[in-house]
Amino acid sequence: MRPRPKQADAQGIGARAAALAAIQAVFFNERPLTEALDAALAKGKLEPRDAAFARTIVMMTLRHLGEIDHVIAAFLREPLPIRSGPAELILRLAAAELLFLDVAPHAAVSSAVALADKDHRARHFKGLINAVARRIAGEGKAMLPTLDAERLNAPLWAWDNWVAAHGEETTRAIAKAHSIEPPLDISVKSDAEKWAKQLDAIVLPTGTLRRATGGRIEDLPGYAEGAWWIQDAAAAIPAALLGPIKGKTVIDLCAAPGGKTAQLAAAGANVIAVDLAFDRTKRVMTNLARLNLKAQIEVADAHTWRPKEPADAVLLDAPCTATGTVRRHPDVLWRKDLSDVMAQAAVQHRLLAAAAEMVKPGGLVIYCVCSLAHQEGEEVVDAFLANHPAFTRVPVTPAESEFATPQGDLRTLPSHWQDLGGLDGFYAARLRRMA
Ligand SMILES: C[S@@+](CC[C@H](N)C(=O)[O-])C[C@H]1O[C@@H](n2cnc3c(N)ncnc32)[C@H](O)[C@@H]1O
Repeated sequence: MRPRPKQADAQGIGARAAALAAIQAVFFNERPLTEALDAALAKGKLEPRDAAFARTIVMMTLRHLGEIDHVIAAFLREPLPIRSGPAELILRLAAAELLFLDVAPHAAVSSAVALADKDHRARHFKGLINAVARRIAGEGKAMLPTLDAERLNAPLWAWDNWVAAHGEETTRAIAKAHSIEPPLDISVKSDAEKWAKQLDAIVLPTGTLRRATGGRIEDLPGYAEGAWWIQDAAAAIPAALLGPIKGKTVIDLCAAPGGKTAQLAAAGANVIAVDLAFDRTKRVMTNLARLNLKAQIEVADAHTWRPKEPADAVLLDAPCTATGTVRRHPDVLWRKDLSDVMAQAAVQHRLLAAAAEMVKPGGLVIYCVCSLAHQEGEEVVDAFLANHPAFTRVPVTPAESEFATPQGDLRTLPSHWQDLGGLDGFYAARLRRMA
């Protein structure tokens, strides 16, 4: 059951104010949603049930933003002016409640008006908010089946980018997958079957455990004793492309928060984990300590940092636009655009060239990103191979992974494994230094 505001707070104003603060931070300050929600929920000091309700409203709003804006526009003679401050966001949140959360119309409408009343700019638009929200309550749902939801819920820059890379049919399937809340994926150090039973999870074909979301992660069996960590099933595939690594030295480049560091260490490698962001490397340390795993941590810029000796392998999980993670982070599409894809691609070209200088002759480099854009995946690797004749692709074969591409790389999409609950989008290539 979806969380609703608790009875004592009949209008759930606390939850809705937190939802508004979070979504304002996303749209007005380009703050990542997870960070914005954590800050808003902490500030609002909400009960867990209200916090869950706030999170649900924001997630629904962002997942269905195109449909919501279309419905709102049908009842507005002209767009709300800039001087109305958060009025448009208040309407979007109310529309999400009315169209997708089955909240009682009087609660959603009166809360929207009350939220507007708290803001000196939106206050002047209370009447309009009330009228539009009432019309959405009355007529909005009937409009939904007439809309092209997949097309509307992705911004045009992303849609065009995906159609160019993956074709229109797959793009529709990707957009559809984005509207579904993903399950919880778990990587275990060992004993997958045993932990699957304890966690009420299934074991996916790649070895990741998958269970329904809900409840505090820290309260699940095995968390405190460090038996497992949270990692999307797709994110766990690139490190596995290295094959057996026990006793080998592996550089985990761009390592924080450390999901892949944990995988490499659990597989018995001597791991050197490198990340630029000090705060994020602290999370790698905390995670490894809980899991009772070891790695050498370096806070450094991978462009200039070099190991004392070349390593047996390098795993580069490059910074990217993260458009493969929209199922969990629906804000990504609305905070970024094609200029971010191009800017990240420029960084990725440089980081892959740097990674190449860290590996022994005969050693492997895995390049991966959680982006759906070819500019950040296939094109980075093709350009690298054209400029680095000492490297060759070691193709990922269909026997090795169902996600192998004809070119010999690996590409997962949110539309994959729909019957099992979907997958994040990831791209990975395996390269060998010949000399
Ligand atoms: C996609 S995340 C890595 C996720 C991580 N590999 C995991 O599996 O948990 C990218 C990381 O790259 C780091 N980063 C960005 N630019 C960097 C650079 N020039 N040198 C080192 N790390 C960098 C960021 O701080 C961020 O933690």
